[in-house]
Amino acid sequence: MKILVVGTGAREHAICQAISPDAELFSFMSNQNPGIAKLAKEFKIGSEMDLDAVKMQAISWGVDLAIIGPESPLEKGIVDTLQEAGISCVGPTQQAARIETDKAFMRKLFVDYKISGSIAYGVFQDSEEAGNFIDHFEKDMVVKPVGLTGGKGVKIVGEHLADGEDAKKYVKQIIDNKIGGHASVVLEERLVGEEFTIQALVDGDHLIAMPAAQDHPHAYEGDQGPITGGMGSYSDKNGLLPFLDEKTYQNSVKIMEETVSAVKKEVGPYQGVLYGQFMLCPEGPKLVEYNARFGDPEAMNVLPLLKTSFVDLCQQVVDGNLKKAEFESKATVCKYLVPNGYPDSGAANQIIKVNEEKIKAEGAFVYYAAVNQKDGNIYTSASRALALSAFGDSIQEAEEICEKATHHVEGDLYHRRDVGTNELIQKRIDHMKDLLAN
Ligand code: GLY
Repeated sequence: MKILVVGTGAREHAICQAISPDAELFSFMSNQNPGIAKLAKEFKIGSEMDLDAVKMQAISWGVDLAIIGPESPLEKGIVDTLQEAGISCVGPTQQAARIETDKAFMRKLFVDYKISGSIAYGVFQDSEEAGNFIDHFEKDMVVKPVGLTGGKGVKIVGEHLADGEDAKKYVKQIIDNKIGGHASVVLEERLVGEEFTIQALVDGDHLIAMPAAQDHPHAYEGDQGPITGGMGSYSDKNGLLPFLDEKTYQNSVKIMEETVSAVKKEVGPYQGVLYGQFMLCPEGPKLVEYNARFGDPEAMNVLPLLKTSFVDLCQQVVDGNLKKAEFESKATVCKYLVPNGYPDSGAANQIIKVNEEKIKAEGAFVYYAAVNQKDGNIYTSASRALALSAFGDSIQEAEEICEKATHHVEGDLYHRRDVGTNELIQKRIDHMKDLLAN
C-alpha cells in the first residue's frame, strides 16, 4: 500500500514512523525533515498549501491513501481536492474541519445539539456590539479570533489583556485586520482548571479514543513565559492522567462522540483525527477547542504506543469501519528542544548536532520538527527544532530517560526540564484539589 503523508513537522515524523513498517511512504513537505526523508521511499519539497501540486504529486506516485498532518491545508480543502482525484484521506473535508477552523461553528454546534461541556460565549462581527457584550459579561473572558492563528491569537482578559478596555481594542484589531482570516471574534468564558488532550481516530460514526496526554504551552519552566506551539507533553501507563480519572475521561470521549454525530448531521461525516482540548473544571470536563488533526507534541505520546497497525486503522477510518486499537501500557514523556529566543525570535539557520545513536542507546526517540537538512547539516528555523520522547513504567522513569537524551543534542537550543517531573505533576494534582475544595 502506498501512503502519502502531507506535512513537515515532528507530528508528521511520528505519523511517518507509525506507518512505515506496514506501507510504502511518500511525503510532501515544505522543508527537508531529516527523519521523514530517511523513512520515505520518495519525498517532494513544496508548499503544503499548493493543493494542485500535492494532488498532481499524489497522482504521479499512485498513492492509495493520504494522511494530512497540519490544519492549514485542511482549512483550504486539501481533502476535498484529493478525494476528487480518487484518493482517500485520513483528515476531514473542508466543511468538517470547521470544527477547528471556525470557532463560531464549533460553539454553535454545542448549543444546537445540546452537547455537554458547553460554555457561555458570543460571536461578533461588529466592534461596538462586542464592546457592549464585554461590558455586561459577568465571568472572566477569553478573546479568540474565529479562524486559525496557530495558537497565537487567543488572549485572556486579566492576563494577556489588562482589562475590558484592552479587550475591546484587541477585538477591533481582529475585526479590522481579519486576524485569523475572518472579520469575526468569539468572546467566551474563561475556563479554570487543568487542561488535557484526548485524540481520537474517527470514521464518520465511531471513535477510537487514545490515551490522554497533557501539553505544556508556556515557553519557560514553571509554566511561565509566552504561549508556544507546545513545549512537551506526558501520558500515563493507564491511559489517564494523575489528575484525570476514568469517569472524566469517558465523559470527555462522550462529548467527542456527540460532536462527531452533530458534525455528520450538519456538514457530512468527519473522517480523520479529532483532537479534543479539554479543561477539567470542578464541575467536570469542558471543551476548550477542537483540532482537526493530531496534536503536536501529543502525537508523539500516543502513536508510538500503538500495538495495532496504524496503516490498518487508517484504512478503517476511510472505509468507515473502525474496530479497535490496542496500546502499550507505558507512560511517555516528550520534550521539545527549541531555538533560543523561541517563540518571539527563535535563532534560525543555526546548525544543530543530533547524536541519534546515543539518544537511541538511552532508550529515547527523536522526532525532527521545523528544521531543514542541507549539505549534510541540520539547520534550525525560528520554530521548534526537535522533540525527544521516551517510554517508561512510570512518568518519572520516562522523564528521566527523556531528560538524559537531551544531552545528546548540541546547538543554540533550550527545553523545559520540568515537563513530566514529579514536582510539576504534583502541582497539577494540588491545583485540582484546591479547585474542588473551593
Ligand atoms: N498541542 C497543541 C496543538 O497541537 O495544537
